[in-house]
Amino acid sequence: MRHTVQLDVHLTEADAERALREDAREGLRAMPKHLPPKWFYDARGSALFEQITQLPEYYPTRTEAALLAAAVDEVARISGAHTLVELGSGSSTKTRLLLDAFTRTGTLRTYVPQDVSESALRLAMDALAPDYPGLALHGVVGDFTRHLDLLPAGGSRRMVAFLGGTIGNLVPAEQRAFLSGLRAVLDPGEHLLLGVGLVVPEDVVVPAYDDAAGVTAEFNRNVLHVLNRELGADFDVDAFVHVAFWDPRNEWIEMRLRATRPMTVHLQALDLTVRFAEGEELRTEISAKFRTEGVRELLAGTGFTLTRWWTDADERFGLALATAT
Ligand code: SAH
Ligand code: TRP
Repeated sequence: MRHTVQLDVHLTEADAERALREDAREGLRAMPKHLPPKWFYDARGSALFEQITQLPEYYPTRTEAALLAAAVDEVARISGAHTLVELGSGSSTKTRLLLDAFTRTGTLRTYVPQDVSESALRLAMDALAPDYPGLALHGVVGDFTRHLDLLPAGGSRRMVAFLGGTIGNLVPAEQRAFLSGLRAVLDPGEHLLLGVGLVVPEDVVVPAYDDAAGVTAEFNRNVLHVLNRELGADFDVDAFVHVAFWDPRNEWIEMRLRATRPMTVHLQALDLTVRFAEGEELRTEISAKFRTEGVRELLAGTGFTLTRWWTDADERFGLALATAT
């Protein structure tokens, strides 16, 4: 018998519109130009990301899935969670491994997928509902950098999953602020399951963010389609090429869009004109990679202890089970 399916929208169309305006106004007038990555994920962007996860070059998803498969029984047992909250849950595909493990241990009552993409969240919940009839599904449309305080109260038996290496989309100061904020809404003894991309050779990481089939390029350029549609902009999307740049000092990979000719772009909704020089780059995302010690220190500095740590044989990805102290 089906329990309940509920969707809370903390990020309304109007909020999102306002936030996009602010981010575009700030980022496109800055030097160098930049945009936050959450704007990739309209319905088309979320679908393109799903394609990325299937690409031969994009090792993070399948590596993390293999780690999860090996770890979930222990994760379910140690956490004993009644509520699983997942931030940036996307399609919730890998989450099935966790839900299956909790079905075996029998503690889990509620799954709370949270994502900025309402379309991805709806698709994910529709796909999960028939397969997990005993589980209450409580989706939350929200921004994990702003809406953590609105997550369901737990009674000390919650686990928060943050997978896919998405924490790497924040710069280190933002990572710390995010984890401290998360810790503040957890009770001591509650758990965090964190997936992180590890530092790998440049010839492995760069193709993962610049695939031969050009899917990642399409995904990256999608943010310009979003600006054209939402802000009445006139970006000539095909005049921008996708660039994936490994920054060895910061140990992160940057996604950029490079203007192939000088351009003047109008954003009607902002009453803003933006100029691009030929070759000028707009930064659309970073994806920071981690080392084991860095993960341990990041967690310790934000009120968590590293309880279990799994990596694959090639050390491309890490999965941390952390406990709020
Ligand atoms: N967890 C999935 C998806 C990772 S892609 C996986 O591991 O495959 C990153 C996901 O985070 C996308 O679904 C995107 O819509 C979501 N996202 C990005 N920025 C966000 C934000 N600020 N708040 C909430 N969700 C966000
Ligand atoms: N969270 C994903 C990651 O950092 C997002 C992502 C994958 C991404 N490929 C991308 C973002 C390409 C921009 C461009 O791995």
